[in-house]
Amino acid sequence: MKLHTVDFEPVGQKGQCQEDESLLDCAHRLGIGVSSVCGGRGTCKTCRVKVISGALSEPTSIELEALSAQELGGGWRLACQATPASDCRVMLPAESMSTSQRIHVEGLEVTVPPEPAVKAYHLQLNAPSLSDQQADADRLLEALYEQYQLHCRKIDINVLRSLSPQIRDWNWECQVSVCDDEVVALGPWPNRQLGLAVDLGTTTIAGYLVDLSSGQTLAAEGFMNPQISYGEDIISRINRVIKSPQEGIRLQECVVEKLNELAASLCSEANASIDSIVEAVVVGNTAMHHLLLGLSVKQLALIPFTASTGLTLDIKACELGINIASGAYVHFPAIITGFVGSDHAAMLLATDSYQTEGLTVFLDIGTNTEISLVNGDEITTTSCASGPAFEGGHIKHGMHAARGAIERLRITKDTIDYQTIDDAPPVGICGSGVLDAISQLYLAGIIENSGRFMPDHPRIRITDNQTEFLLVDQEEEDGQSTIVITQKDIRELQLAKAAIRTGIQLLLETNGFTEEQLGQVVIAGSFGSYIDVSSAVTVGLLPPLPLNCFRQVGNAAGMGAKLVLVSLSKCDEARDIVTRTRYMELASNPDFKKMFIETSHVGKYWLRHNKREMLENG
Ligand code: FES
Repeated sequence: MKLHTVDFEPVGQKGQCQEDESLLDCAHRLGIGVSSVCGGRGTCKTCRVKVISGALSEPTSIELEALSAQELGGGWRLACQATPASDCRVMLPAESMSTSQRIHVEGLEVTVPPEPAVKAYHLQLNAPSLSDQQADADRLLEALYEQYQLHCRKIDINVLRSLSPQIRDWNWECQVSVCDDEVVALGPWPNRQLGLAVDLGTTTIAGYLVDLSSGQTLAAEGFMNPQISYGEDIISRINRVIKSPQEGIRLQECVVEKLNELAASLCSEANASIDSIVEAVVVGNTAMHHLLLGLSVKQLALIPFTASTGLTLDIKACELGINIASGAYVHFPAIITGFVGSDHAAMLLATDSYQTEGLTVFLDIGTNTEISLVNGDEITTTSCASGPAFEGGHIKHGMHAARGAIERLRITKDTIDYQTIDDAPPVGICGSGVLDAISQLYLAGIIENSGRFMPDHPRIRITDNQTEFLLVDQEEEDGQSTIVITQKDIRELQLAKAAIRTGIQLLLETNGFTEEQLGQVVIAGSFGSYIDVSSAVTVGLLPPLPLNCFRQVGNAAGMGAKLVLVSLSKCDEARDIVTRTRYMELASNPDFKKMFIETSHVGKYWLRHNKREMLENG
């Protein structure tokens, strides 16, 4: 098989690519973050590249369908379909890059009295002598009992391996970290006791370095989940693992590598040693949880979508390849079901769902959206496939929430005002921008209730048989990309928002409530933190409640992971939340289809809301 050199611009990375290897696979092999929402199936168009020089394979039938003749003529190709036919240079536009997404790590800060699972003890030991030849480990365990009345029976084998030389280096004075009845770390006295909390999301990974004695967060950081290279949604990644178990190992390895990078980076920011991390807590959706643990994921994609295990797990970090203190555990809180993971339970924990007064909906919006209805002690949860539209996927000029993405937009009579991330020139539109655009188009009377464009607006045009509205015009703003919202984009958003709204409605109806009885809607997650709630209400994504009923709480799952790390009581509470949660499968509900069609309209519920407001205001 022939090899060709492919030069990826503007990242400036080159690599050898076999004649039958796709540009996407080649880019991913070289560590270049190219978007691939559909995992290379040729349906999302997020992997568009432009040929600058050289030859590529003939366009596949998928490309002929996905790209217009004009785009193909201009050198545009799908990286997942095209293979090199000679040495070549290709350009990756900003909207096709998956590396620089804005990552939300902040969330509501909840403080609890520190009560960690791993506790530190200061020991001063007597040095051995010819008249006292007790073994070093026995001496240490005996001292723990004598000085703290602690019945500690085990020492982790890695701790044991380094115990004798280290304890001599420290002149028989040390700090012992104990989890239950096991010594999991040893350090010089005094030493910081740190913990690592991780929210392992499908798109991003957020990490927090926490001082276990004070509960204080010392550093927080977010990274893209490197598994994106294998498909941006869960199903694409699971399909890859089903096709080749080797891929499962690769997916696991790349996340472990990123977690190690995260731990090292957080420690460097807090001027700490990674050996001081004596415990980690990881929350995530069920697929991320299973992939990290190397559990089978096939059954997650098959009816009835069951998890391998829902149990709370404590696994030695070294068994997973995670480099923290040598005997430390990684704690995985219990998961709810195959489609609702420990991240949702962590979100419910951090938002004090227990103590919420009145009927409340908790939402974590993503490609898969988890929704809980909490009424006192009762929690009913569901999940819906909301797709990638909120992350810019399947949208003609959609992109992640990265530099240059339109994130806010307002349409007045003759003008369109927009704000981009980092105030950079616009290169595409991210989920919150799409939501704003469609809400504004509706309010300006440019699209009707069904989502169809009204004819006769000067900014509406037809390109490749597709009606589209010109948001940013290249001719209008010299040198900037043309950015449009197409009829198909509106349909994508309608499907995504209908999935979520149907979930909310059916949860309410099944429990005998109506949306008018809702007291509060709590919205978590990256997308949920940046959306304009009034736009979300206008398009009918959220129920028509007064705006002060909505609470955006940022990365609440990460905050929940921190609580579990710092407090054993919170750890029990998280377990209790999972036990009390009843899962409701949407697809099996007889009203699902009818409700889905009804909620797919734009603005329908907004009209009802206006009517209600009018009634309330007399
Ligand atoms: Fe290429 Fe989706 S179209 S990855």
